[in-house]
Amino acid sequence: MLPKINFTETDAYSYLSNHYINIAPKHLRDLFAYDPNRFEKFSIAFEDILFDYSKNRIDEQTIALLIQLARECKLEEAIEAMFDGSPINQTENRAVLHTALRNVSGKSIKVDGQDVMPAVNSVLNHMKEFSESVINGNWKGYSGKAITDIVNIGIGGSDLGPVMVTEALKAYKNHLNLHFVSNVDGTHIAEVLKTVNAETTLFLIASKTFTTQETMANAHSARDWFLSKGANENDIAKHFVALSTNTKAVQSFGIDPKNMFEFWDWVGGRYSLWSAIGLSIALGVGYDNFYELLTGAHAADEHFKNIPFEENIPVIMAVLGIWYNNFFDAESHAILPYDQYMHRFAAYFQQGDMESNGKYVDRNGVPVEYQTGPIIWGEPGTNGQHAFYQLIHQGTKMIPCDFIAPAQTHNPIGDHHVLLLSNFFAQTEALMNGKMEDEVEEELRATGKSEEEIKTLIPFKVFEGNRPSNSFLIKKITPYTLGSLIALYEHKIFTQGVIWNIFSFDQWGVELGKQLAGKILPELRNNEDVISHDGSTNGLINKYKAWR
Ligand code: F6P
Repeated sequence: MLPKINFTETDAYSYLSNHYINIAPKHLRDLFAYDPNRFEKFSIAFEDILFDYSKNRIDEQTIALLIQLARECKLEEAIEAMFDGSPINQTENRAVLHTALRNVSGKSIKVDGQDVMPAVNSVLNHMKEFSESVINGNWKGYSGKAITDIVNIGIGGSDLGPVMVTEALKAYKNHLNLHFVSNVDGTHIAEVLKTVNAETTLFLIASKTFTTQETMANAHSARDWFLSKGANENDIAKHFVALSTNTKAVQSFGIDPKNMFEFWDWVGGRYSLWSAIGLSIALGVGYDNFYELLTGAHAADEHFKNIPFEENIPVIMAVLGIWYNNFFDAESHAILPYDQYMHRFAAYFQQGDMESNGKYVDRNGVPVEYQTGPIIWGEPGTNGQHAFYQLIHQGTKMIPCDFIAPAQTHNPIGDHHVLLLSNFFAQTEALMNGKMEDEVEEELRATGKSEEEIKTLIPFKVFEGNRPSNSFLIKKITPYTLGSLIALYEHKIFTQGVIWNIFSFDQWGVELGKQLAGKILPELRNNEDVISHDGSTNGLINKYKAWR
């Protein structure tokens, strides 16, 4: 069980409140000038990942107090409880063991006294065997042809992880064409089906519950389409597999349980890319690369579990987030990968973070009186620079950012990578240092502007700086380093949830909309005016009925 401590009532919190008054007026420029060893002090090397957090509005005391806060909130015990398989997802009475899915150590992990590793390894073997037979062409479609296209049908955690990883690892892609259908908007599946041939297409129906409306609608449409192409019911076994925890529902959909890749209720949807939900990854980049992803994540798990908090990347990421969220009132956090392949990384952690820590009720069941999870957003650099960075540099909001870049590119074309990296380094430097009035004045004078023009332009051209960022410099984005990076972010989210005293592994907040959609659906099936809702909803539904 997790502790139930109000972090605002700890000693560390009150020390931090006083300490904030001291730190807030200080400029990062001055902190660097005062302490030339900041980089050495505030950076952590973990294998091929360098995490530099020196460009944050902190000093040594800040970190010491933040770590004291984590300790007072019993983070050590919470980490142990998670890794040990205690039912820390208390509102669903479940263990939280995505770490078991990547436990390549050979050690056992028990849930309710039973070792889960034999079942985990058996599904991994099934995934290996199956993915290899599809990739090497031994798995044939109903007309005897090898598979050319994979269509993963799933949403949320059954989509975002595989999409993000297969995009991030595109450099490792084999000949299979991967498609992902998530939206219930018929446009999504219609556009994918236009591009594939039923004889050579394999559908992966990815759903933990196998009840999700969007996924079931898309799965049925895929099956109808398949059967309309000259295939029959018996052919379904060669073209449809299920990734799920729900054997009964899989069977009643018509998928042979032999073609089901199982996982378990102790795997949260948004933490499931490591499970059977990762089958599209194994198919797209090969099982060995999928296993490397797991191995990299396991290394990060060991780091999180064993390394002292002072040198522990997820813990430092988490407490810095809390520093800005709860003391500086920052509302959002940007994730900015300088790697085009990682273009879905921020979107992936939008679910990972916001579905986990977007909660206003604490572990005692009482509404909190402090801020919890931030808004997560971001796009790859350098594109973002030409879109929204203006606000990060000169807007009125503080936006702590994570910059992520690989030192080595998979595509060494001309000097593209050095151009990219020059921007990566420049942005965090600009955010930190800004540009002071005298620098602006000097620059304008050098361009030959009149004194009058200089005076008018100065306020607009000044950058106050002092805007915090973390930098992740990664030797190369490989399956291993990507696995590590994802796991570091997962553990950051866990750590923050522990300190905010919320349950990070349920997601009741997505239920109400689903319930109401279920009620509205039958009302849309006739042409009568509705009067059962509020004025706005009635008005919208009735206008829709008039226009459709
Ligand atoms: O609606 C939210 C959610 O439950 C997510 O947590 C989950 O990842 C997604 O829906 C999909 O659920 P499933 O895998 O059961 O179809």
